[in-house]
Amino acid sequence: MIDTFTINTSLAPSSRVNELDQDNIQFGKMYSDHMFVADYRDGQWIDCRIMPYQRMEVSPAISVLHYGQAIFEGLKAYTTEDGEVMVFRPHDNFLRMNESAVRMCMPELTEEVFMGGLLQLLKVDKAWVPNRPGTSLYIRPFMYATDEYIGVRASNTYRFLIFTSPAGTYYSEPVNVKVEKFYSRAFPGGTGAAKAAGNYAASLYPALQAQKEGYHQLIWTDGMEHKYIEEAGTMNIMFVMGNKVLTSPAGGTILSGITRRSVLQLAADWGYEVEERPITVDEVVQGIQDGTVIEAFGTGTAATIAQIALINNDGTDYKLPPIATTGFSNRVLEALNNIKTGKSEDSHNWNVKVP
Ligand code: COI
Repeated sequence: MIDTFTINTSLAPSSRVNELDQDNIQFGKMYSDHMFVADYRDGQWIDCRIMPYQRMEVSPAISVLHYGQAIFEGLKAYTTEDGEVMVFRPHDNFLRMNESAVRMCMPELTEEVFMGGLLQLLKVDKAWVPNRPGTSLYIRPFMYATDEYIGVRASNTYRFLIFTSPAGTYYSEPVNVKVEKFYSRAFPGGTGAAKAAGNYAASLYPALQAQKEGYHQLIWTDGMEHKYIEEAGTMNIMFVMGNKVLTSPAGGTILSGITRRSVLQLAADWGYEVEERPITVDEVVQGIQDGTVIEAFGTGTAATIAQIALINNDGTDYKLPPIATTGFSNRVLEALNNIKTGKSEDSHNWNVKVP
């Protein structure tokens, strides 16, 4: 804990915000003027600062580059109808980041450092929060090990940063996905539930193979039998069967997505039956064939809702029916957007206002 929480701020001499073309935002390509940085030494988070977004020098020996002690979060800020800036469920990201930190043997953040740094950074870079429909400011908090030591042990020192990046639509159309039955994203006792950088590194090669076969993404299955559905690419996955919204249980091998939680809450509010349980690949394939699975979609911060048009299993493509504009995934996407942008009531108090 730091006794007095102060953030030293040094502002960029001029803003680059006029380089932002709100009608043509590509995800993850442009960064706002400032970043928040804090260092961990001798058991304390120290030197909290906001500084111009810039490159950082690192020693080739820092342990994250060798053994991958790195975790991150993703969340978004929105401009509301009346010009306020709201962040969606940041406290949930704070808590999840600390769960990841514990699993990866890294220090937990204090609420002051995470929330204080986040809100102050957003206040400074408010002008970067886009306001066109479908746009937002993607926020990337992350932490990595900084000991200059190549022995294998948990680092004693770390750096925590937050930077932000204007975001538009992640997937422009419903995606085609392939059920992965050889490679695994996670396994019991592993790091699947943590937002650990290495989980994403390990997913790249299998995802590339699927892309070479013409699919946008993979559906990950359990690492033991490849029988149960776990996640879709970097998202949680859900199915609509009649009045039921079905998803795989979070924790263990599956990330506890914040969009996932929000979608399940709205489904319950609207009277859907929500089922969180192991889902077999076979029951989904059977359900598509007999017409009981009417929608499949991924949920995540970057994409919000990514509808699935087609699922490939064991070499056969199974097409999902077109989703009606009144279908659950369209309705929930619109409802979430309306809550985040202040167009409808935030009855679960998910938004946090930037001062
Ligand atoms: C998310 O959608 O929450 C993600 O983490 C995606 C990110 C890896 C781009």
